Amino acid sequence: MSKPKVFVTRAIPEKGLEMAREEAEVEVWPDELPPPYKVLLEKVQGLDGLLTLLTDRIDARLMDAAGRSLKVVSQMAVGYDNIDLAAATERGIPVGHTPGVLTETTADFTWALLMAAARRVIEGDAFTRAGRWHTWGPTLLMGPDVHGATIGIVGFGRIGQAVARRAAGFGMHIMYNNVKDCPEPDPPIPMPVECVDLDDLLRESDFVTLHTPLSQETYHMMGDEQFNLMKPTAILINTARGSVVDQGALYRALKSRRIACAALDVTDPEPIPMDSPLLALDNIIITPHIASASVQTRTRMAKMAAGNLISGLRGERLPNCANPQVYEVHKDPRGQNGNS
Ligand code: GLV
Repeated sequence: MSKPKVFVTRAIPEKGLEMAREEAEVEVWPDELPPPYKVLLEKVQGLDGLLTLLTDRIDARLMDAAGRSLKVVSQMAVGYDNIDLAAATERGIPVGHTPGVLTETTADFTWALLMAAARRVIEGDAFTRAGRWHTWGPTLLMGPDVHGATIGIVGFGRIGQAVARRAAGFGMHIMYNNVKDCPEPDPPIPMPVECVDLDDLLRESDFVTLHTPLSQETYHMMGDEQFNLMKPTAILINTARGSVVDQGALYRALKSRRIACAALDVTDPEPIPMDSPLLALDNIIITPHIASASVQTRTRMAKMAAGNLISGLRGERLPNCANPQVYEVHKDPRGQNGNS
């Protein structure tokens, strides 16, 4: 029997590709840049499985171009705002993603940005390289303390809670806001954590860090009004999604020193255009969406994505499914019980 056909939209870590190749005939898009949408429309025709990244637009048109053979879309990311989940569910296509495995690594990187911004690590390095380090300076490159400061965590899911655990280690006062409710941290955090409304969080925090998924509710949730509530000494960190922040408003807040600094791993769009006014500011750090990019975690993500893909191809329930409703709405989602 011939193997199912799979397209992988970029060269993911080899361990994941090895797993996929054991099960399927795999084509990998070889370029550094993602396949253009038009190319993807051609590539998906007659596929059984698609392994995607957050840079791919996966919409109803693309699913229809694939045809009835498409049994699974497996995304190597925890976020899936690039995928039209409703369209996939409607068509009986389960969508996989990679929650959990990147939580700690993303929280580590959030912490790296927070520390770098507060303690001016990037500026210090540039200062040294520019030959400007002439002596120990009593007021040179001072920044705010991290320990003992107040951190406001917006979005208190897995990653937000992992950031809170790090903040506890630094003896910080921890407050959080979650769009929907006030979840109890699990596992517990060895410091009091206060669930507050967003305005209070913004008024009181020295560091505001964003960990919400992108949705209609969170799109541009940080705009002029929100920045105006923040302390002039406050630092914003975003490792969630770029469009949770209204970048025009962020520019105004940074330029006027309405807030002190921002450190972003995500922008809108990505990559940030080189003529973006944000890049002309001296109080911003921008990294290229690398919060989950540790060797171990990217390997775990690739294996998890391959695992979801293989389950989908075999007609088994995906271990990590972003649209579990697909199993309720459709008695026989694609691939299940030999259905296609
Ligand atoms: C990265 O941003 C992810 O969603 O995995």
